[in-house]
Amino acid sequence: MRNGVNKIVLVGSGAVGASYAFALLNQGIPGELVIIDVNKDKAEGDAMDLNHGLPFAAFHLKIRSGDYSECKDADIVVLTAGAPQKPGETRLDLAAKNTAIYKTIVGEIMANGFNGIFIVAANPVDILSYATWKFSGLPKERVIGSGTILDTARFRYMLGHYFNIDTRNIHAYIIGEHGDSELPVWSNSSIGVVPIKEWMANNPQYKKEDLDDIFIHVRDAAYEIIEKKGATYYGIAMGLVRLTKAVLGDEHSVLTVSTYLEGEYDQEDVFIGVPAIVNRNGIKSIIELNLDHEEKDKFNNSAQTLKDILKGLKF
Ligand code: NAD
Ligand code: LAC
Repeated sequence: MRNGVNKIVLVGSGAVGASYAFALLNQGIPGELVIIDVNKDKAEGDAMDLNHGLPFAAFHLKIRSGDYSECKDADIVVLTAGAPQKPGETRLDLAAKNTAIYKTIVGEIMANGFNGIFIVAANPVDILSYATWKFSGLPKERVIGSGTILDTARFRYMLGHYFNIDTRNIHAYIIGEHGDSELPVWSNSSIGVVPIKEWMANNPQYKKEDLDDIFIHVRDAAYEIIEKKGATYYGIAMGLVRLTKAVLGDEHSVLTVSTYLEGEYDQEDVFIGVPAIVNRNGIKSIIELNLDHEEKDKFNNSAQTLKDILKGLKF
């Protein structure tokens, strides 16, 4: 923070990063935004373009491009740099390539005296959150991966559409890897305060097969969008702004983020998506859902998938 003003540094002004910057400006978060990209022209061009929207914005956001020295007094560094998936690639296929990039990026950020909170979005996000934590040496609370925040949003949107209920009144989580091994927590899902199972029992037109189908669509949504338009960015950009607000506003919001487990959910030494309370210090605490037997198995399998990848990487 500089002179009481929130300062955000964004590293990676590609499709996700630029959409995040645009969403930040539109959602009225006052402060400073510095954009860094290995492609300096892209960062500069985005800063110019975004500044031209300032006369139409609700709050003033000082936007400029810059270099890693800007990280010294930043409150938050958002990491969206890195290779995205090509059609047919999984997120985990990017692990080695992006971990190597993160060693350099996080090294530069820390060498410049950063002492704030990382928000990591690049893929595979659970692996890169772990890498960011390792390379930075910061306490685990200060590295927040976007985890399954987007998958949970997709889930709530699709369930809201199916039940014809405002998506904000659907309380349901996707947890686990942000990727193919993630899982829905049906045992803890509700519409308003009514458990989904009870809602289904009272309204027999809704079918379990449809719910299974909804989850498949959630899990595979990114593949479908990447096939159609090459990348996903608006949804995650808004999720990252939601996380930014939760931190800067000390909101104590419950969000499904990738965080370090040390015994929670009977797992350790892995970053993985679970509901957690997010405030000005980062991750305040993890919420341990009471999973049923099948969910526990699927969660353990998801954590193992990530651990197997971590084993093959150098930190
Ligand atoms: P992109 O190719 O459009 O942008 C990546 C940007 O990173 C580019 O501008 C590039 O110049 C920059 N960059 C690359 N190496 C760099 C370095 N060493 N230093 C600084 N900048 C560097 O990709 P995108 O579509 O914006 O996706 C970015 C990442 O976000 C990908 O890994 C993608 O898989 C991920 N993603 C995550 C989610 C999520 O839910 N977590 C959603 C969508 C995309
Ligand atoms: C997503 C990215 C690709 O949209 O992780 O889920």
